[in-house]
Amino acid sequence: MSTPPETLTLRRPDDWHLHLRDGAPMASVLPWTARQFARAIVMPNLKPPVTTAAQALAYRQRILDALPAGSDFEPLMTLYLTDNTPPEEMARARAAGVVALKLYPAGATTNSDAGVTDVRRTYRTLEAMQREGLLLLVHGEVTDAEIDVFDREAVFIERVMAPLRRDFPDLKVVFEHITTKDAADYVAAADARTAATITAHHLLYNRNALFVGGLRPHWYCLPVLKREEHRRALVRAATSGSPRFFLGTDSAPHAATLKEQSVCGAGCFTAPAALELYAEAFEDAGALDRLEGFASLHGPAFYGLPLNAGTVTLRRTPWTLPDTLDFGNAAIKPLRGGETLRWKLD
Ligand code: DOR
Ligand code: ZN
Repeated sequence: MSTPPETLTLRRPDDWHLHLRDGAPMASVLPWTARQFARAIVMPNLKPPVTTAAQALAYRQRILDALPAGSDFEPLMTLYLTDNTPPEEMARARAAGVVALKLYPAGATTNSDAGVTDVRRTYRTLEAMQREGLLLLVHGEVTDAEIDVFDREAVFIERVMAPLRRDFPDLKVVFEHITTKDAADYVAAADARTAATITAHHLLYNRNALFVGGLRPHWYCLPVLKREEHRRALVRAATSGSPRFFLGTDSAPHAATLKEQSVCGAGCFTAPAALELYAEAFEDAGALDRLEGFASLHGPAFYGLPLNAGTVTLRRTPWTLPDTLDFGNAAIKPLRGGETLRWKLD
């Protein structure tokens, strides 16, 4: 048997799905991402959402202004697609450097009230996106109250994703943070213009994690963790070497006081140890050699962006992730806080 490696060096990776928020909370979580990733796709679900090119440019500047001195981190901006996003805005978005629009079905998740009520209402805008080469990033869950929460992703594929692919074959679509075998199989079998991001927490945990020793709000995200068979399918997809699957943390910070409530918002804050968590998942699958493709190569290829220069190194060094971190004037609890992690970023 070969001895497990002590270090792991990767081309500098990117995070293809990230929530940074705004203001002081943003300034406190941003360094966690910037120390690991060269670029990140920044989600637009602020309050109010980022719906115009001008708003995206202003948000981008606030992020750049909040970066630690010397950081060359590059935020890749997105717009929040609504029923009323004007097709004309797509050329302005492209000119402003916006790379994608995010489709939130109305009511599906955190700050999704302004989301899309019926995808057909957005068809003229999707046509303009296809023309401008903007990507569509999809939160793939139906919101129909009659559909079981654990089935919402699978139902989304037949009701929304399949018709969308048929009607816009040239649009590049990322099925974000997939959580089921259904979605992994769908993306693996789709054409080369369909890809998916996968979070570290969906690779490492099944839905039991929500209930260990009691109800655990910091493990609640959307789409919610699924059964073990789905987790395994995600691990197979992520470690398959297929360029359709790449890293997107969906790190989604919420103040601890708001998570630890009778009603808690969805989102797992994984940015502080994102690469370390992915390395655990890939090592457990015997696929550490596939992590670089997933974290650093497949995303840029799909987005049509250059690979990053430079490398990052992970070291096999047990360390304890702090239980609580700063979040503006509040506190935040990272996923796995207070626990020992196997890998540590240099
Ligand atoms: O868990 C989630 N949190 N899922 C989402 O889709 C949104 C995100 C957030 O913004 O907190
Ligand atoms: Zn997200």
